[in-house]
Amino acid sequence: MCGIVGYAGPRRAVPVLLEGLKRLEYRGYDSAGIAIGDEGRLAVVKRVGKIAVLRNAVPKELPGSWGIGHTRWATHGGVTEANAHPHLDSSGKVAVVHNGIIENYRALRNMLEREGVCFASETDSEVIPHLVARYYEGDLEQAVKAALSHLEGTYGIAVVHADEPGRIIGARNGSPLVVGVGSGEMFLASDVTAMIAHTKQVVYLSDGEVVAIDPSGFRTTDRDDRPVAKKVDEVAWELGSIEKGDFACYMEKEIFEQPESVARALGGRLESAEATAKLGGLNLDRRQLRQVGRVRVIAAGTSWHAGLVGAQLLESMARIPASAELASELRYRNPVVEKDSLWFAVSQSGETADTLYALREIQRKGGTVLGICNVVGSTIARESDGGIYVHSGPEIAVASTKAFTSQLAAFYLFTLLMARMRDLSHAEGAHFSAALAGVPGKIAETLRCRDLVQALAKKYARSENFLFLGRGLMYPIALEGALKLKEISYAHAEGCAAGEIKHGPIALVAPEVPSIFLVPDDELREKTISNMREIKARGGPVIAVGVEGDAEVAAIADDFVPTPRMDPRFYPFTMVVPLQLFAYFVALELGRDIDQPRNLAKSVTVE
Ligand code: G6P
Repeated sequence: MCGIVGYAGPRRAVPVLLEGLKRLEYRGYDSAGIAIGDEGRLAVVKRVGKIAVLRNAVPKELPGSWGIGHTRWATHGGVTEANAHPHLDSSGKVAVVHNGIIENYRALRNMLEREGVCFASETDSEVIPHLVARYYEGDLEQAVKAALSHLEGTYGIAVVHADEPGRIIGARNGSPLVVGVGSGEMFLASDVTAMIAHTKQVVYLSDGEVVAIDPSGFRTTDRDDRPVAKKVDEVAWELGSIEKGDFACYMEKEIFEQPESVARALGGRLESAEATAKLGGLNLDRRQLRQVGRVRVIAAGTSWHAGLVGAQLLESMARIPASAELASELRYRNPVVEKDSLWFAVSQSGETADTLYALREIQRKGGTVLGICNVVGSTIARESDGGIYVHSGPEIAVASTKAFTSQLAAFYLFTLLMARMRDLSHAEGAHFSAALAGVPGKIAETLRCRDLVQALAKKYARSENFLFLGRGLMYPIALEGALKLKEISYAHAEGCAAGEIKHGPIALVAPEVPSIFLVPDDELREKTISNMREIKARGGPVIAVGVEGDAEVAAIADDFVPTPRMDPRFYPFTMVVPLQLFAYFVALELGRDIDQPRNLAKSVTVE
């Protein structure tokens, strides 16, 4: 949600900043801007719309070798050029880009207005350049620190001053900021993707830290000017993992990457001799794990759906009561934090505000929270008491796909570990472990349904309403299928527990409303078939995602998508794949912007 990039070095800054912004566009894309320093002045260009619009507006040969840029997802103030970042002080010498929310901006704005400052935007962010200007006496770093002492809320900021060539000051409090160390050039960004084309040497800032960069290097301090020593990390992935390659868009690429991404999530974590799992980052010993009396998962969106699967699996296999809840709901209902509960905060980005704030609330009440995150060094990963990285690699499309199946992998591993400490035998553990190791291959087989699903998407793309139905482990998958379709095609889709349709949703059934059923060969198959027949009897078209060779289900349904036969506990990994593809191809058919759907953003750092 919103992206920041900064550059100071020998090159022309414009192409570096525009390229960085393009790579950050997935985080927010309603407006964008840059400020470039050159010979004692700042050139600022801002536009409503995507980075391509900004690129066209920037004079081709604009000089200047240092500057900052921003791509925005609006929170305070509408989507207008005035509200786009960078924001300037009244003299036009200080420019600031900001991610996060300044909670006390009203009071600060009133104070500054009383002092005669005129504001040019409706944003909370604009108070920052005016405050910096108020304290500026020839040292930008000191002026930024003085300004920070007024701010309440969250921020990741980058600040430049026209009179300090090549310098950028960054500060972090609750909104990520990373320094990129090049040779004779330096970068600053909210996310490593913005600079990975130039350097893999990065420094992750922590909350409360301030960094001053110039082409020769960087210096980190706290807000009281005490030096803070930082370690330079090497980014573990390659530029190729954030490029589309031969795929039309990131979502398609990420769907097809799932055999590898799930294999990475499992990599080195299955212990075949002991028929269990090894999860090094939990920070809990065997005794503590055995004392867990309940598992509770908090998350948002797709990550919540992974949590629902995980909770069911844990309860049925490890016999630990488990539930998954929306973080945005949990936080404000004063939950009881039982002593023997183990909590999981699941988040691809590791930055989702709802999940982060719920995590803090639980920790405040004494709960132990483990993270299941994809982004290394993200806030949830750092603030949790331990956890499991899912190693999906960067997920760029706003609609989450490969992170979901990797989150499932994390829950399956954890379930195996916990079940083996309780009642699961070595033989049963070995069987489960072998099936889990086989999941990447099964996903690869499932992906062969691509052309069939594309044809179905063409057939049904004009429908305005869809139902997604499943029972047991397939209920969260139905929710996920509906969410995927909603997010990128804008069709109305509802995920329902198949047994629940007779209590309401069946009223929606009509010839123009397709129902997509998930029908594994599990103990609920007959019940699900009955629900399919109920829909058919009322004239509703039925698409069944089932198991290869299931002639009965294929005969009842209007359309049938076979998936490989497997141990029924593992169908969430494969049966979600045709639903991801269906959403993708419907959106393609409707000409939607698949990677950057309207109104959404990749990591939502506001409540
Ligand atoms: C946003 C995205 C969803 C995502 C959710 C949770 O709403 O649009 O696709 O599932 O956030 O994100 P997280 O990074 O916490 O998994």
